[in-house]
Amino acid sequence: MENKTLSDIKINLVEHSKINDIDFENLSFGNVFTDHMLVCDYTNGEWNTPEIKAYAPFTIEPSARVFHYGQAIFEGMKAYKDEQDDVWLFRPDQNYERFNKSAVRLAMPEVPQDVFIDGLKKLLQIEKDWVKRGNGKSLYIRPFMIATSSGVIASPSLNYRFCIILSPAKSYYSGEVKVVIADHYSRAANGGIGAAKAAGNYSAQFYPTKLANEKGFQQIIWTDDATHTKLEEAGTMNVFFRINDTLYTAPTSERILDGVTRKSLIELAKRENINVEVKSVLVEELIAAAKDGSLKEIFGAGTAAVVNPIAGFGYKDEYFELPKLEKSFALHLKEKLTNIQTKVEPDTFGWTV
Ligand code: COI
Repeated sequence: MENKTLSDIKINLVEHSKINDIDFENLSFGNVFTDHMLVCDYTNGEWNTPEIKAYAPFTIEPSARVFHYGQAIFEGMKAYKDEQDDVWLFRPDQNYERFNKSAVRLAMPEVPQDVFIDGLKKLLQIEKDWVKRGNGKSLYIRPFMIATSSGVIASPSLNYRFCIILSPAKSYYSGEVKVVIADHYSRAANGGIGAAKAAGNYSAQFYPTKLANEKGFQQIIWTDDATHTKLEEAGTMNVFFRINDTLYTAPTSERILDGVTRKSLIELAKRENINVEVKSVLVEELIAAAKDGSLKEIFGAGTAAVVNPIAGFGYKDEYFELPKLEKSFALHLKEKLTNIQTKVEPDTFGWTV
């Protein structure tokens, strides 16, 4: 893989920032973008010089492969600001590695570290005023890559565009999240692309999620495609189940995204002396636990969602409300995690960069 050095980067700054027009207290997730983006094209078998320039529309041919065959991948990361106004990334190496794993699975070129990580750091230096402090605020980072070669032949593109765009964020979900357990549709199958952060994994969920929304649920907890008996992940989040005082989360597999928040919470729970087991929970076990009162909590974990408590879940025609807890593992772990991310507590794990 060719390594670009950052002296290669081209920088074209905007003349007027739009930052003063933004109401940072009233943001809905992912709607506002900063002044600049990073763009790097892959042509003739190599990565070109990355460029930081105005966030603006760009032109690609209508026949570009991304539009026809969905060769597109992305990542979700966040930058946080501490009390000294320094900007921090959380485990960016993990997102970088996962991005390139997704690239390999989608037959796309891997992105050099200097373009992804150093390019991101440079972009953040330029956009540091967009990272706000306090009250769950962060700057959501969306690196993505699309296939840009023209022609509708169904084969991998030769040309690609890698971009990083930035969006000031508060929380992803507002209000209660109720989930329904999938008993027909599937998110992923063995041998498929479920473990990749591929655009198609998300669009494939839109229709079943729309049906779930119509019944009053915000999200689906996906089950294994073969038997629909094992609980897997929630599409935009990994999921944790607390039965009595043990936390369970499904092991990663070809069907489950290896979430950075998920793996950090497992480590944090161990440090906090919470018993955590990486093990699939069966739908029938969950329902039995809901009925006998041993099911205490379900929560989702993801970069955008952070840690999101689930209010209740539906399965076929039944609905189970979760108890309201005073000492919730979800809220405790969320506080610990965000304290590390925002440097309120010392980062003994070495996760912040
Ligand atoms: C993230 O948590 O960053 C994700 O990628 C979920 C996304 C669909 C908002």
